[in-house]
Amino acid sequence: MTRPTNVLVTGGAGYIGSHVVRQLGEAGHRVVTLDNLSTGFRDAVLYGDLVEGDTGDEGLVEDTLTRYGVDTVMHFAAHTIVPESVADPLKYYGNNTCSTRSLLAACQRQGVRQFVFSSTAAVYGMPATGIAAEDTPTAPINPYGASKLMSEQMLRDLSAASGMRHVILRYFNVAGADPGGRIGQSTRKATLLIKVACEAVLGLRPPLRIFGTDYPTPDGTGVRDYIHVEDLADAHLRALAYLQDGGESQTLNCGYGRGYSVREVLAAVGRAEGTPVPCEEAPRRAGDPPSLIADARRIRDVLGWTPRHDDLDTIVATALAWEKRIHGNA
Ligand code: UD1
Repeated sequence: MTRPTNVLVTGGAGYIGSHVVRQLGEAGHRVVTLDNLSTGFRDAVLYGDLVEGDTGDEGLVEDTLTRYGVDTVMHFAAHTIVPESVADPLKYYGNNTCSTRSLLAACQRQGVRQFVFSSTAAVYGMPATGIAAEDTPTAPINPYGASKLMSEQMLRDLSAASGMRHVILRYFNVAGADPGGRIGQSTRKATLLIKVACEAVLGLRPPLRIFGTDYPTPDGTGVRDYIHVEDLADAHLRALAYLQDGGESQTLNCGYGRGYSVREVLAAVGRAEGTPVPCEEAPRRAGDPPSLIADARRIRDVLGWTPRHDDLDTIVATALAWEKRIHGNA
């Protein structure tokens, strides 16, 4: 598929980045991770060297690009918590947008030819139909989505003005863990539904709060498109192969094109553990769209990507296994 190359992974010690580092290493690529370990974990980097530092540190980035002969950059490092972005917008514009600008400047100076960027379904805001295709107008409703959209725009403009080509991947709701049990989501004070539900069913936190039961959805709770982190990581390797084959710059949704409600997710977690998830109904959470599902056709056509874990019970089983492992409950 891909030819071995030298890849810089920013945020490679984080949840999604560490799964991509692992797959890149398994595929024979030479990987170097750049991570400031503010939310990532040294132990999660299973292949290659770890350089500790910020993506906004142009000198460090240029040194790393040269030292490792980097051909392709995959840029994961970012803050990702939506409510926090509302409370502290400059933190998000600083780390997500300004640091991306610095990273791109270093890449331009060092002649990096290929760039894969972690973007988000949050760039769409609240699409009227609840389904977003890549050409659905972008209208982020929080600073997190806006900070990522600004980075997308910089990247498009730089590619147009230089020899760089890119793939922008817009992630929907990422969940699950390495089926081999080596890495998973270790984020402290997690807010993501599947992680929180696993913690709640294991008695590691108070009952889960269902944010909103009066949405215009089949059971009144929010609907999302949950994608297994292994399939998402595979999309990155396919994006790399696509760029190596000379593919032109692309923006692609990463989802399965199918939505599950909060109640359906909780039922799956309850099934997996054999006991219901303790939960209570709560008001809507500010900024939540009722439904956000990917029109996920383009990525299959362009990258030849075929999901292998497209099943809510599989996603939940790997997430639950990881939760037990990190809490010594395996
Ligand atoms: C997540 C991502 C966001 C991305 C979006 C794409 C993070 C932190 N968030 O946000 O970057 O743009 O997917 O769709 O990575 N819920 C509860 N109770 C809880 C937690 C969640 O009812 O305790 C509900 C939410 O109201 C929502 C659904 O579960 O309806 C999913 O929420 P969450 O897992 O927080 O993800 P998003 O907000 O969709």
